[in-house]
Amino acid sequence: MEIVNRISQMQKISREWRKEGKTISLVPTMGFLHKGHLSLMEEGKIRGDYLITSIFVNPIQFGLEEDYGDYPRDLEQDCKLAKEVGVDVIFAPSVQEMYPKGFQTFVEVEKITETLCGICRPHHFQGVTTVVAKLFSIVNPHLAFFGKKDFQQFVTIKRMVLDLNWEINVIGMPIVREEDGLAMSSRNKYLSQDERRSALSLNRSLDLAKKLYQEGIRDTEKIERGVKRLIGEEKLAEIEYVKICNKVDLGEISQIKSEALLALAVKIGKTRLIDNCELGGEEQN
Ligand code: PAJ
Repeated sequence: MEIVNRISQMQKISREWRKEGKTISLVPTMGFLHKGHLSLMEEGKIRGDYLITSIFVNPIQFGLEEDYGDYPRDLEQDCKLAKEVGVDVIFAPSVQEMYPKGFQTFVEVEKITETLCGICRPHHFQGVTTVVAKLFSIVNPHLAFFGKKDFQQFVTIKRMVLDLNWEINVIGMPIVREEDGLAMSSRNKYLSQDERRSALSLNRSLDLAKKLYQEGIRDTEKIERGVKRLIGEEKLAEIEYVKICNKVDLGEISQIKSEALLALAVKIGKTRLIDNCELGGEEQN
């Protein structure tokens, strides 16, 4: 496994692989890898000839008050885990390499980023789409893998690729959870024991929503209310949003008629966690 820090070197490697007719998989990450990240890499390994993982804590997707400085980092351990799943190249550029002095070009997907997480994190998705657009243009992958844990991010990137006519297949992967149901996240590291216990209410509330749906309730407000009540019982939890929307453009719906997404963001202490489940579709996680 090679570790590449320079953009020009990364471009050279993938140019050569493309010339050989090989299929390139890309898994973009911010590092501090866990089994959620590794599941994307395992799929990337199966579906492509070569697998590239980027590790870059992207400053422009964090708000001023957010945790950019504290975001957990452990490149050594990440390299070990990536090697074990068969990553061929880790692309780990510096901030200076990605955003040199004078940088002033940003990619913005409009409507889908203005709801859910976009309300409390106004510049977040512009930061995400800009860095992912750069990674796509540097690596030039055939396949790119994203977790549905960040469902809004996944549909935003799908939209960007469609709108800009890039020949990249964006693949969404299921949420990987801890044994007790907590969705894996690099930010779970911030949780104290009490907070972690409170955080289990997120997955429990999704189970409740699925149960209500199975009992025949289709009124989104009713389900949202049940979810809010369950999470609201936790003293340490502060709900940012609980919303049922359509899965394609995340538009609001009042009745679940076809596939829908229940998405939520909750602060547990100082840690902001997100989770979601699909309702009414084939895939229920
Ligand atoms: P990061 O939070 O490191 O996540 C990298 C990828 O792993 C994302 O596609 C995310 O959805 C996926 N992922 C995280 N936790 C997961 C879980 N429990 N199950 C399945 N997939 C999971 O998302 C980012 O980084 C950044 O915004 C990035 C796309 C790299 C741009 O900077």
